[in-house]
Order: sequence, then structure tokens, then C-alpha cells
Amino acid sequence: MDYELGNVLLRKKDIEQRVRELALDISSAYGDRDLVIIAVLKGAVVFLSDLIRSLPVSMAVELDFLGVSSYGSSTESSGVVRIIKDLDINISGKNVIIVEDIVDTGLTLSYLVNILRERDPEVLDVCALLDKPSRRRTDVDIAFRGFEIPDEFVVGYGLDYSGKWRNLPEIYSLIEKP
Ligand code: IMP
Ligand code: MG
Repeated sequence: MDYELGNVLLRKKDIEQRVRELALDISSAYGDRDLVIIAVLKGAVVFLSDLIRSLPVSMAVELDFLGVSSYGSSTESSGVVRIIKDLDINISGKNVIIVEDIVDTGLTLSYLVNILRERDPEVLDVCALLDKPSRRRTDVDIAFRGFEIPDEFVVGYGLDYSGKWRNLPEIYSLIEKP
């Protein structure tokens, strides 16, 4: 199937505004406690970089990254997740937030949450920019959520289709080429 960009679903200004609100929610929840923020590569890095710079200077934030690759076709998650880059730091006893670009079926995140829980963090929360609840196949507790979106495949602001379009500053729906 060949795809092209459709309409803008979320504008730059609205994303910026919502990211600032999420940062406020995180700082209200955690106060001045130190945080480890873990971004899931690669889609979450654009969101991550805006989010952490919106946190108050009183918060000391450590960053780490998880690289995952899911098997299956590129617009559908198979739920089989392979870790291709593990964390560098030990999260035992730490306040940890996993940052994801989008929660679709929820299979990727629930797998990651299970793995990280075994490493005994003090707190483990999920922060996701986008949520497609209509597609959920397993329960995921999202403590900090940016936008709920309809069942459309979206790209931009870090999200890709087949590796493309991560650079777009706004979030677009993808449509099938006629
Ligand atoms: P899940 O395991 O089905 O929740 O899928 C999560 C992963 O699938 C996300 O981290 C994205 O990488 C990818 N994904 C799901 N929906 C979209 C989308 O609409 N655009 C781009 N990537 C998506
Ligand atoms: Mg992803």
C-alpha cells in the first residue's frame, strides 16, 4: 500500500501548549523529586525533547532510552516486542516515567512496563503524547496523556510511517494514495 500525507490532525501551537500542560502535571505530581525519563526510540524523541525542557529547573532529570522493534507490518503492532537497546542506568529505587509517542493496541507499552517493573523502580508512570483508545487490546495505565485521537494512522512530530516523516512539526493523518 502507498500512502501520502492527509490533513493536519494536530497543529504545532496545540502540541506546544499540551506539552507544557503535561510538564506542569508531571511537576505537580513529582514535586522536586529526581526523575528518570525513559524514551522509547525512535518515535518519542521529539516529544521527549520538548517535554523535558518544559519541566521546572528545580527538577533534576536523568534520561535514558529503550530501543524496541516490533515484528509485523508497519502500520500494525504485533505485540511481539524485541529490545534492541536496553537502558544504560539502574532504575532500582528511582522515580521513572516512560515516554511514548503513541499508545495504540497497548501491547508494546504493557510489555515494557512489565519488564521495567521487575527492576524495582520506586514509581513507574507512563506519559504518552497520543492515545488511540479504540484500538486497545490490553490495559495500560497512562498517567500523563497528551491527546486522544481517532483510529487513524498519523505521522510527524517523531511519528513515522516506514521510517519517514518524523521531522514534520505538526501531526498529519496518513491517507492511501489513489
Ligand atoms: P502498540 O503496541 O499497538 O500500542 O503500538 C505502539 C507503537 O506502534 C507506537 O510506539 C508507534 O511506534 C507505532 N504506532 C502505532 N500507531 C501509530 C501511528 O498512528 N503512527 C505512527 N506510529 C504508530
Ligand atoms: Mg514507538
